[in-house]
Amino acid sequence: MHRRITGQLVIATHNPGKLAEMRELLAPYGIEAVSAGELGLDEPEETGTSFRANAQIKALAAAKAAQLPAFADDSGLVVDALDGAPGIYSARWAGPNKDFTGAMTRIERLLQERGATTPEQRRAHFVSALCVAWPDDHIEEVEARADGTLVWPPRGTAGFGYDPSFMPDGHTRTFGEMTSIEKHGLPPLGLGLSHRARAFVKLAEICLEPR
Ligand code: IMP
Repeated sequence: MHRRITGQLVIATHNPGKLAEMRELLAPYGIEAVSAGELGLDEPEETGTSFRANAQIKALAAAKAAQLPAFADDSGLVVDALDGAPGIYSARWAGPNKDFTGAMTRIERLLQERGATTPEQRRAHFVSALCVAWPDDHIEEVEARADGTLVWPPRGTAGFGYDPSFMPDGHTRTFGEMTSIEKHGLPPLGLGLSHRARAFVKLAEICLEPR
């Protein structure tokens, strides 16, 4: 049996970019979202070997600490020609200073070293694993992806992380050149474009009720 989210929900992230996106996604459902940062919760170590495992670790740690249902996301960029890197290490590739220009430059250097110059050789996808955990260990989890190609140089200043280098399939602009409404492509305007929006649509089906 799926369990519905009601009332207060802890958003288990310390990343302001993600927190803003999560709040935007949850707003239509009347969920009162409070962040792990605001509650002063510690960030657990992400020791999992998959996006799904890391989302679970974060959601369960926050649910136990806050004694409230908690929602966590683990996400990243998977580059085919780099055997899936940076993958679950996407945040780490930017280093402690969150230097995503540096991380995108590193990816580009590796792609050039492998002779990956055509769009087909530069395939990549974002993955979003979402997990809602309750203090009694019940969990609900979903995963989704957004497919596209990597462009160089990066384009646009919107969004965060690797957005300026990622052009989703069927579009001529990168996520960095899109408004957040376009990037997510949520209903009723769209059917989910970003990995996070797609995962969220799946989660909403099983755990949320529109107001
Ligand atoms: P984590 O999920 O906190 O481990 O971090 C995932 C990392 O993947 C983020 O810091 C970003 O670098 C990258 N990432 C995840 N989702 C997106 C996105 O929608 N746009 C750009 N970068 C993303």
